[in-house]
This record gives sequence, structure tokens and C-alpha cells, in this order.
Amino acid sequence: MSKQGAFPRVTAPQIIACKAEGRKIVGLTAYDAVFAALEEEAGVDFLLVGDSAGNVIAGHATTIPMTMDSMLFLTRCVSRGTSRVMVVADMPFGSFQVSEEETLRNAIRFLKEGGAQAVKIEGGGYLIQTVKRLVEAGIPVMGHLGLTPQMINVFGGYGVKATTEKEGKQLLLDALALEEAGCFAIVLEKIPASLAEKVSKQLRIPTIGIGSGSECDGQILVNYDLLGIFDKFKPRFVRYYMNGAELVRGAVSSWVNDVREGTFPSESESYEAPNANQESKAAKRSRRT
Ligand code: KIV
Repeated sequence: MSKQGAFPRVTAPQIIACKAEGRKIVGLTAYDAVFAALEEEAGVDFLLVGDSAGNVIAGHATTIPMTMDSMLFLTRCVSRGTSRVMVVADMPFGSFQVSEEETLRNAIRFLKEGGAQAVKIEGGGYLIQTVKRLVEAGIPVMGHLGLTPQMINVFGGYGVKATTEKEGKQLLLDALALEEAGCFAIVLEKIPASLAEKVSKQLRIPTIGIGSGSECDGQILVNYDLLGIFDKFKPRFVRYYMNGAELVRGAVSSWVNDVREGTFPSESESYEAPNANQESKAAKRSRRT
């Protein structure tokens, strides 16, 4: 997507331009340098260092425990593993709710210390002014509406959001306000496909869907879901593109067997000192003499 002489990574204006060009935007989560590099090579436009790391990396039941320090560490890993994609850092619970000042300070850290090019913030309403402030300060912001997992304690579950006419209207108003505030894209998570289509049609900026149907301007998934590595539960909107969990378990158990049977490592997988042969010949000679 990037042009010669331009900024080497995918930029917010380029993501916006995709919508006008009718080119679907593809995002995927990443939490480490190795997966980030593979996903970049596979052609995604942006990588989200999602606070879903709380679930798939840290083993928490929710995203709530993720901290600025843990998210900064993961963001640095993803940035170091890539050179072309836009890296979007997810602002964790507690990093943007307290005040505009604190949000700005935390978002700046993601760009300066994490190497991200943008941040994502869950929610609409009260955050509009904050988003405006971040964008004015030079920080591209991706919005996130619908099922916002950081609200789990208020929502009480991970069901589909904005299912009534009133909630649908409110979501559309929030989306328009986020666009007005300067967001370059908005994630729509787990809302009815017809509502996502309507919102996508009314916005100039792209919508990025997850569990919100095919009419969004782009799609995003959690990488461990797409690869079938996280197989504890499979939401309906996830498609496994490989059976990662099975492959990993199979490979590791083969290695366990090989070690126990003594067939790993082989001679060709082992080292000798370069002059070991000579030394042992010399030792034999000296024993004989
Ligand atoms: O944290 C995350 O991975 C996300 C995506 C699911 C959009 O917010």
C-alpha cells in the first residue's frame, strides 16, 4: 500500500483511502515479533496489539487486568517484528478513563516507546472530546463500538450488542461523533450485520468488522482464533484457517516421544569441538605409547 518516498508503513490516510477505492481493509491481532512478521508477510494492512492479549497471552478471564506496561511491552515486540504494516496499540482498561491529560500521556507512550502508529480506544459518548485531543496532538485513533469487552462488568456477558432500534440509533450517533472527532476507522464488534452495513454506508471513514457481517469496510480477527490455536471456545464469527491447537499438541507430543525414546537429538543435531577428532587420535596414540 505504501508508495516510494512516502512513510514506509501503512498510514491512517491510506486506510481511509481504501474505503473510497472499494478495497477491503484487513487487520489482525499480534502480540509478538515472530507472529507479527509472518502476518505482515501474509499481507495484512494493520496489526492490532489487542488487549485480547489478556485472554490469549496472559490467561486472564477478561481484558481488564491488562496494564500500560504489559501493553507497551507487547507493542514494542510487534513493532520490532514489522516494517510495513500500521501497528495499532489497544489502550487498556484504566489508561483512558481517568482524564484527557492522562489519556494523552498514555497514548503518546504507545507511539514514542511502543513504536505504534495509532491507538484504539473502546467506547463513544464521553470519549469524543478525548479522541479530538489525541488526533490534534498527532495520534491517529481507531474507535471501537458495539461489544466493547472492557465493559464486561457492566454488560454482564459477551452477547450481541445494539439489537434494539434505540441502541442501533445510539451506536450510529456515536460512530458519526467519533468520525467528526477525527477517528480514521472504527471497529464494530458483534453487532447485527444490517446495522453494521447501515453505519458503514453513513460514514466516510472505514468500519472494521468483527462478528458484524460482511458489509463492513474491513475485517479483523484475533490471530489465535484465525489459526485455531485458542480452541477453548469458538464464537460463531470465527473461522479457523488451520487447526493450530491440534498441530501444536501433535508436534510437541512427537518431540516428547523422541526425547523419551532417545531418538532426539541425532548426531547431526549435536556438536563436537572442531578438533575433537584430532585430540582423541592424539590421546589414543599417547595411551598406546
Ligand atoms: O483486543 C482485541 O483483540 C480487539 C479486537 C477483537 C478488535 O479489540
